[in-house]
Amino acid sequence: MSIQNELLSTIQSLVQPGKGILAADESHPTIAKRFKAVGVESTEDKRREYRSLIFSTPGLGDYVSGVILFEETLGQNSLDNVPMAKLLESQGIVPGIKVDKGKKSLINAPGDEITYGLDGLDDRLEIYKNQGARFAKWRAVYNISDSLPSRQAVTANAEMLARYAALCQSLGIVPIVEPEVLIDGDHTLERAADVNEAVIAEVFNALRRHQVQLEGIILKPSMVTPGKACAKASPEEVAEATLRVFRRVVPAAVPGINFLSGGQTPEEATANLNAINSLGRQPWNLSFSYGRALQEPAQKAWAGEPGNGHYAQNAILKRARLNGAATSGEYKADMEI
Ligand code: 13P
Repeated sequence: MSIQNELLSTIQSLVQPGKGILAADESHPTIAKRFKAVGVESTEDKRREYRSLIFSTPGLGDYVSGVILFEETLGQNSLDNVPMAKLLESQGIVPGIKVDKGKKSLINAPGDEITYGLDGLDDRLEIYKNQGARFAKWRAVYNISDSLPSRQAVTANAEMLARYAALCQSLGIVPIVEPEVLIDGDHTLERAADVNEAVIAEVFNALRRHQVQLEGIILKPSMVTPGKACAKASPEEVAEATLRVFRRVVPAAVPGINFLSGGQTPEEATANLNAINSLGRQPWNLSFSYGRALQEPAQKAWAGEPGNGHYAQNAILKRARLNGAATSGEYKADMEI
């Protein structure tokens, strides 16, 4: 298959009505934090057991079109001794891979961060592709305050995202472009809207500069919400603010926007996505690419006990199903019961 057809066929598999993406690509420190919250020590075997359990949930592929894996998981076999990528494919789910190396302080820009990982990325992408990954993820992180992010942070992170995306596409791998404006802080909804607009506009400037084909990417942004320490906005307010920003800065050529959950509760993330999809047809498919908002209830139900596997699978399937409904505005709060 030509590179071009490969990209478009992966986009078709990922961007499907009623389906979204599961982000199960937590780095070692992050998964250790999630496991600790449910009383589990993070060892290689425990991580394999948990992820194998989640990926083999019967029916997961009805609502999940792709799963983002961490490097370790892509190299592991499931509890039934099948490579994890093969297990996902047997569920009709496309395997993907987180390829950035995490964030560090941006020099000469106090309070800002920059994502690392471009050195040697071409070689790593070849290896991941041979292991079965068909799409990738790179996350840029923007702290928000009255003065952050700085112009340096906005332009430098956009440049990294664009170079990563161009490299992925040259190898037939669909890039998920993730500019995450953090929810931490006491900023208002209006401030979040301004920052998201500036950040995303710069990302598309950089994508254009690097000749990234917009039909062959997925955008993974934050929803526009007030900071965690500010009064909450209603799902309708979040939806209106989010779409106002996106209509201004996201070209219609982008096939899919899959939101991150970013610290929203599972119920909030579903209600907000539902409100976004209740405002009529938009140029892009609007769906989810949640980590915590899909997995938190499943991790609690599992708590490291193999005997709880069935409860964990039920919990993730429920969140996937409700978010699936939210992609067409058909979610109702009473479906939570
Ligand atoms: P959350 O939905 O937990 O924010 O995770 C999504 C993700 O992939 C962050 O990079």
